[in-house]
Amino acid sequence: MLPVRIAVAGREQLLAELDVPLELPDLLAQVTEPVRDWEVEIGFGKGRFLLEQARANPACGFLGIEVVSKYYRHVRDRAAGDHLDNLVLLRGEARYLLAAVLPASFARSVHVYFPDPWPKSRHHERRLFDPESLDLVLRLLHPGGVLSFATDFLDYGKLVGELLRAHPALKVETAADLWGGRARTHYEDKYHREGREILRFEARVASCENLFHPLGGRGVVAATTKPPEPPESVSRIVKSDG
Ligand SMILES: C[S@@+](CC[C@H](N)C(=O)[O-])C[C@H]1O[C@@H](n2cnc3c(N)ncnc32)[C@H](O)[C@@H]1O
Repeated sequence: MLPVRIAVAGREQLLAELDVPLELPDLLAQVTEPVRDWEVEIGFGKGRFLLEQARANPACGFLGIEVVSKYYRHVRDRAAGDHLDNLVLLRGEARYLLAAVLPASFARSVHVYFPDPWPKSRHHERRLFDPESLDLVLRLLHPGGVLSFATDFLDYGKLVGELLRAHPALKVETAADLWGGRARTHYEDKYHREGREILRFEARVASCENLFHPLGGRGVVAATTKPPEPPESVSRIVKSDG
């Protein structure tokens, strides 16, 4: 696995040189006024949306996550050339960064646009959204914060819609076009011009309780205390389910 890299205003550090969870205000404090609001984009690709949002909202901090080095370097260099001091870029695997590196409850928005759909069923586990990783994404948002999602891959989008609606902490809305006043992403722009159908959701964290997805328990493989023995009827379901 490549080391996680962090770029702010063209200056780059390795994750190993910093404390975790990352002190985001400290990263920006070296280059700009303290920011109170943060927005995150996961899988920023060529960075069109992220760069335009950071340019248009200089008082807000933006954090971008991208696993492909080529895209990360492209956006890092563009951000440095444009003197965008309010942008932190992370090159690394999103699920690892969400679980182990980023602080909780710091963002007002998380944007996930056109994530890789991994259409083959044997690859579905690589998708960003399943009940457990959705909880990792929501963990970044403070109460009232919003997760915005879009995809042209309608089967995946319908599943994500069901997943979001089954979450007790979320209030979910669909939107014909979320990008009224915002920049379009590279793929959003391409698919919009091609007239492709796009599914979009906005999910607001409406409750501070029940932050775990009810379908997520199956992914829990470690606990700090020994969990109670489940009743016989539940044991049978778990055993027969493998
Ligand atoms: C289809 S592109 C969409 C790019 C951009 N959001 C857009 O709409 O134009 C998906 C992006 O997510 C990135 N990505 C996929 N899985 C990721 C992961 N696990 N962690 C971080 N980035 C990821 C890919 O490298 C790619 O740049």
